[in-house]
Amino acid sequence: MKEKILEIKKSAEEEIKNVSSLEELNNFRVKYAGKSGLLTEVMRGMRDVPKEERPALGALVNEVRTFVEGEIESLEKKLSLEKLNEKLKGEKIDITEPSKNSERGIFHPIQRTFNKLLDACVAMGFEVVTGPEVELDKYNFELLNVPKDHPARDMQDTFYVTDDIVLRTQTSSVQVRTMENRKPPIKIVSPGKTYRSDSDATHSPVFHQLEGLVVDKDISLLDLKNILTDLLQILFGKETKIRFRPSYFPFTEPSVEVDISCPNCKGEGCYLCKKTGWMELLGAGIVNPKVLENCNIDPKIYSGFAFGFGVDRLTMVMDKIPHMRMLFENDMRFLKQVK
Ligand code: PHE
Repeated sequence: MKEKILEIKKSAEEEIKNVSSLEELNNFRVKYAGKSGLLTEVMRGMRDVPKEERPALGALVNEVRTFVEGEIESLEKKLSLEKLNEKLKGEKIDITEPSKNSERGIFHPIQRTFNKLLDACVAMGFEVVTGPEVELDKYNFELLNVPKDHPARDMQDTFYVTDDIVLRTQTSSVQVRTMENRKPPIKIVSPGKTYRSDSDATHSPVFHQLEGLVVDKDISLLDLKNILTDLLQILFGKETKIRFRPSYFPFTEPSVEVDISCPNCKGEGCYLCKKTGWMELLGAGIVNPKVLENCNIDPKIYSGFAFGFGVDRLTMVMDKIPHMRMLFENDMRFLKQVK
């Protein structure tokens, strides 16, 4: 019996040297350590061995089994690793190959306009400040010199949340919030969403503005004109002509509307500018001294100017978009065309 066991060990030692694949290793496992393998068979034969010899022989079989299983385990690791390496060698991945159907994200046209405007403004030394879209009436109107029953309220069809809370109709609310908290010099722009109960080809109930405010000593209409001319020429090119027309806003005095020569037809007249050669882009003016006073800034020492861009209108002009609705439908066929 003992010889038989030692014989099994010896042949296992010999045989394992020739095992060179996982399949062969499995056969080896079945042959020696399997349920009806050689070692199990020997254990069964133990019945015929005299009782006193059994413990020693049992121990010997276990020793051989431990040896065989140890060999199998280490060889299995080695062969699996070899197999993996072999597989990897054949499988070169070309990371430079373009993937199928990859969609690249792009900014929405309105965001692109904002980015252009903000880049230009930041380069000119403006700081970017934002404020809430659900706004106190006080910041949207009252402190901007539009008291509750003022007729100028009719200029902006407002969504009221309560008597004292509105969806902001203009980013001018951020002017007041900023002036309330800081002392001049102030030079800010404030981008964001605004809301009015208004809807047609060039108006949407939600739209976007960028407001600018400069407050310092000796600020005049000339500064406003120079800064806006620079900004508009950065955006639309040096050859762009700029026109200032008198206008009215309760929070600026005097007030102007600013037009540029139509970038599409260079002032000749086309469908985008309704054949006028000009596009109306923003409202602006010298900050009304009453507004400065409302924010505890002394109008005898300081003056300022403000301007407000309609960013959707600007986008329609820059990207030649005929209907404002297209900016909000998020139709990918349209968005992909606008570059
Ligand atoms: N807030 C004004 C509007 O929405 C635009 C504006 C801003 C005009 C700043 C003058 C100064 O119509």
